[in-house]
Amino acid sequence: MHQPRPLPAPLDRLRLPVIVAPMFLTSTPDMVVEACRNGLLGAIPALNQRSSEGFEAWLTEIDARLTAYPDAAPHAVNLIVHASNPRLEADLEIVIRHRVPVVITAFGARPEVIDAVHSYGGLVFHDVATRRHAEKLADSGVDGLIALASGAGGHTGHLSPFAVLAEIRQVYDGLLILAGGVTNGAEIVAARAMGADLVSMGTRFIATQEAAVPEAQKQMMLQAGAGDVLVTPNLTGAAASFLIPSIRAAGLDPAALPAVGAPDAKRESKAWRDIWSAGQGVGGIQDLPTIAELTERLSQDYRAAVARIAADPFAG
Ligand SMILES: Cc1cc2nc3c(=O)[nH]c(=O)nc-3n(C[C@H](O)[C@H](O)[C@H](O)COP(=O)(O)O)c2cc1C
Repeated sequence: MHQPRPLPAPLDRLRLPVIVAPMFLTSTPDMVVEACRNGLLGAIPALNQRSSEGFEAWLTEIDARLTAYPDAAPHAVNLIVHASNPRLEADLEIVIRHRVPVVITAFGARPEVIDAVHSYGGLVFHDVATRRHAEKLADSGVDGLIALASGAGGHTGHLSPFAVLAEIRQVYDGLLILAGGVTNGAEIVAARAMGADLVSMGTRFIATQEAAVPEAQKQMMLQAGAGDVLVTPNLTGAAASFLIPSIRAAGLDPAALPAVGAPDAKRESKAWRDIWSAGQGVGGIQDLPTIAELTERLSQDYRAAVARIAADPFAG
């Protein structure tokens, strides 16, 4: 059985084993700085800025603001490495120039990207959703795999977190990060007990003061339960989780969404911007704390859960 172990540098600066997940149209420099300042790994997708120049301006701002906090946790950038991303080369050069501590790659692993990030001492994490996928990447040089479980916000996995962690651990002994449905401290402890080193939490951090999404989106999240989340490929082309009330509010029938590319798929409302993504963890979210308040709560809940488990009569 895999034992919880200390995290390698620079992740050893984390207060909790938590990545504040990169989220399209949601993550901002404010969220990254607040996450890192409070000891969590803050992440931002390069594509949240419309141009590479804008992306570099954000990194310059993040670097400058984080110098005020010498003990801050490291930050990460999310790069889409699929051939369809015309900005990859330019954004990668910027990442290298700013020596971004962690790069989270999505949609295909590229050896030249891994080498480039390693050249300045950065780490690369990559998403996987199955054992076969993990097996392919185990020897690719990546420094960590993000196991996407069912119930995740954004593009989701389809296996239970129990099943996906157990399978991936059979083929990969490196740094493993669980993404999908984690919203509280006890669940972070559970993930580590199940063989993960860290968790990546997206949905929980949308419901914070710092998240720059419409207030209506946050209020919808407070009302929603796991049953209000629809997983469909019909809004983006790949299976992704969206809030059913936001699909209805956009004038669409969640039960009859035309496939992407279908002639009747023309719609004004855009996935992500007007149709809001959240994972099944939304059901456990009941308030809109600041990231500092949420981190403190996660930390207290983490310690309380460890104490509960240590006192478990079955462990005696
Ligand atoms: C609104 C939203 C946007 C997302 N955008 C991205 C993205 O641009 N790149 C990426 O790698 N993952 C993206 N994700 C997935 C997250 O990085 C993470 O895997 C997921 O949020 C974890 O599941 P949870 O939301 O249940 O915590 C997004 C998730 C959400 C909720």
